[in-house]
Amino acid sequence: MSIARSLLLRAADSHWLAGQMARRSFAKRAVRRFMPGERLEDALDAAATLARSSIGSLVTHLGEALRTEDEARAVRDHYLGTFDTIHQRGLATWVSVKPTQLGLDLSPDLCRRYLLEVADKAESTGSSLWLDMEDSRYVDRTIELYRAMKLRHPKAGIAIQAYLRRTPKDLQALLDVKPLVRLVKGAYAEPVSVAFAEKRETDLAFFDLGRQLLEAAARGQATAIFGTHDLVLIARLIDAAKRLQVPPSGYEIHMLYGIRAADQVQLAREGHPVKTLISYGSAWFKWYMRRLAERPANVWFVMKTMVT
Ligand code: FDA
Repeated sequence: MSIARSLLLRAADSHWLAGQMARRSFAKRAVRRFMPGERLEDALDAAATLARSSIGSLVTHLGEALRTEDEARAVRDHYLGTFDTIHQRGLATWVSVKPTQLGLDLSPDLCRRYLLEVADKAESTGSSLWLDMEDSRYVDRTIELYRAMKLRHPKAGIAIQAYLRRTPKDLQALLDVKPLVRLVKGAYAEPVSVAFAEKRETDLAFFDLGRQLLEAAARGQATAIFGTHDLVLIARLIDAAKRLQVPPSGYEIHMLYGIRAADQVQLAREGHPVKTLISYGSAWFKWYMRRLAERPANVWFVMKTMVT
C-alpha cells in the first residue's frame, strides 16, 4: 500500500480532523464532487437525472460504527422511510447499507432484526437491499447476515472485496444461496496477513473472482456485479462474459457518483447495465477520506478548493 494511501486511511480515524473538516466550507465544497448533497432528496434528484441516461442507482446514507441502540433504531427508521420515498417518486433505486450502521457492534441480534425489517420494506416497495462490506473484522458476521436476508429476499445483494486473501473461499461458499454479488477491490487499511499489499495483486484477484462470478452467472448460480472504475478490468470482464455467453442482463457495472461519470454514460449507451451508488448524509468524513485514499491525487483538488 502506498504511503499516501496509508496516511489518508489512518487520518480517517481522527476525530479532531473530522471535527475540523465538518466546520470548513471548503471541505463541504470538495465533498460535493463525490456527492450531490447531504439530503436524501439530493441523492434522489441525482438518481432521477441518471435515469434519463439509462443509468440505474443505489443510495446510501453515510454513517458507520454507531454507539447507541437509539442511533441504530433511527437509521432503521430512516431507511424504512427512504423506501417509501423512492416508491412515491417512481424511481428504480436500490439501497445499500453498512451492517454497523444498523448496530452490528452493539448487538448482532438487534442488527439482524433491523436488517430484516428494512429488507422486508425493500421487497414490499419493489426495491432491493444491499450489504456493503466493511473492514475484515466484519466479514464473517456480514456474510451470516446476508445468508439470513437472502433466505427471505431473493433480490438482496452483498459486496465482497478482491483484496482479501479469504475471498475466493467466501465466494465459493456463498454460491449455494445463488448470491447477487458486487465485487469491489476493497477500501480499508488491512494488515498484509489479511489483504494483498500490492495493487497489482488485487487487480489480478479481481479479474479471477470476476470470471468465477461470470461462470456462476452462466450456470444461473449467481448475479455478477462489478463495482469498479477500472476500465481495463471492466473491458476484460465484458469480453469474458461474451465468451461465456452471459448476456448483458447477467451482469452489471456499478460505480460511485462523481467518478468516471462520462464513462458511466458511455457504457450505458453501449448497452451495458450500469448503476451509480450515490451517498448522502452529514457523516461523510470517513467515507470521504477513503475516496481520497483511493486516488491521493484527489488531495490536490481539496487544496485547490481551499485556495479558491
Ligand atoms: P482503482 O483504484 O484501480 O481505480 C481505477 C481508476 O478509477 C483510477 O485510475 C481513477 O481514474 C478512478 N478512480 C478510482 N477511485 C477514484 C477516486 N476516489 N477518485 C477519483 N477517481 C478514482 N469498498 C469496500 O471496501 N466495501 C464496499 O462495500 C464497497 N462498495 C463499493 C461500491 C461501489 C459501487 C464501488 C464502485 C466501490 C465500492 N467500494 C467498496 C470501494 C472499492 O473497494 C474501491 O476502493 C474503489 O472502487 C476504488 O477502486 P477501483 O475499483 O475504482 O480501482
